[in-house]
Amino acid sequence: MHRRDFISGSVALSGTALIPSFFNTLALPMPPHLQNGETDENYWNAVRALFSRPEGFINLENGYFSHQPASTLSFHHLKENDINTRTSLFMRREQQQAIESARTALAGFLTCDAEELALVRNTTEAMNIIIMGFPWKKGDEVVLGNQDYGSMTEAFQQASKRFGITLKYAEVPLRPNSDEDVTEAYKRLFTRKTKMVHLTHMINLSGQVIPVAKIAQEAKKNNIMVAVDSAHAVAQLEFGLADLQADFVGASLHKWLCNPLGSGFLWMRKEHIPILWPLMGDTTQPMNNIRRFEHVGTRPIQTLQCIPESIDFHHKIGSTLKEKRLRYMMQYWTSKVANQNRISINTPWEDPKRCGAIANVSVDGYTPGALADILFSKYRIFTVAIDHPAIKGVRITPHLSNTIEDLDALVSALNEISTH
Ligand SMILES: Cc1ncc(COP(=O)(O)O)c(C=O)c1O
Repeated sequence: MHRRDFISGSVALSGTALIPSFFNTLALPMPPHLQNGETDENYWNAVRALFSRPEGFINLENGYFSHQPASTLSFHHLKENDINTRTSLFMRREQQQAIESARTALAGFLTCDAEELALVRNTTEAMNIIIMGFPWKKGDEVVLGNQDYGSMTEAFQQASKRFGITLKYAEVPLRPNSDEDVTEAYKRLFTRKTKMVHLTHMINLSGQVIPVAKIAQEAKKNNIMVAVDSAHAVAQLEFGLADLQADFVGASLHKWLCNPLGSGFLWMRKEHIPILWPLMGDTTQPMNNIRRFEHVGTRPIQTLQCIPESIDFHHKIGSTLKEKRLRYMMQYWTSKVANQNRISINTPWEDPKRCGAIANVSVDGYTPGALADILFSKYRIFTVAIDHPAIKGVRITPHLSNTIEDLDALVSALNEISTH
């Protein structure tokens, strides 16, 4: 549904005045020029005003999921209300068309073929479809990263027990000097038995972006399938799916696209569609139809109906500018504390191609939990402790709803904590 249809639709459906928050998006000023646009606080304050901010604390843990801007939230309510009113008539007669419209819009956004795109509930589901559905043979090997997201590592460990596959873990350097540092960590584990390499596009623990395409090229030389967990990269970094040179890509849309909770996708090359088993049995769809992976029973379609709206909001800002702003916010605070004696930034924060909004910080003398606790209890800054064998610190994730003042508060808290 396009914006104009939504205006007339909302009047027809509700018979009341237009939803005021909808105009907030229309009221968004033209984005600033790309050069230095990331620092135009007047513009970013107008963007921020579209998000409701919590009272009593500063949220710098936006990596879990993002809140929706007011325009999407209103649209979401409207669609939920419609489905709640027309119930099974909508589900039986209009649901599939709504799913197809969302698929088409998302394929346009990701620049891929809609027939290679399954709409799933989140990255975890997307990656599990691959991990549990791949036709493994006993003795097959998989190379994963030592900092991959826990659910994916667990899924592979379960698959290892179930199918007899062997897992090998690449030791990804925390602050690589070159793409080759990272590529080598994977490449050295490839053998003739390696069937798949699993890559976390932006590592959630630290915010490090890994050179997916370069690793994929090495994998292809060895006939190895490439599965990419792009949960944090989609709609945060500007890229097209083809750029990754992958076989499978999964991501969530409730993180950086600011879509309502419970939306994600699984993309795969067409030739792989018939070879994977769906997670939920489906024998009605033809084997070469991507929809066989969408069989999950009754689901909230309003979440999917919001996808075109969320893409619209994203485009109003623009992918390039949004990526620049998110990285600027991260570098704003990291550059102010990185030289402090007891502070370490566990992210390659100075290298723009290896980072985005997320960074991980530690302070000597504080466990990750103790640092997250004092940031919250004393300074009312909410973060998340990362206590992982490969990386220990606190993850800081600003989003479009944060201000420069939020980051100043973080800098001042870290300075105080590290000097006392
Ligand atoms: C790298 C990475 N992959 C996957 C996920 C899982 O996302 P979801 O819970 O939306 O499935 C996360 C969640 O934070 C993540 O950081």
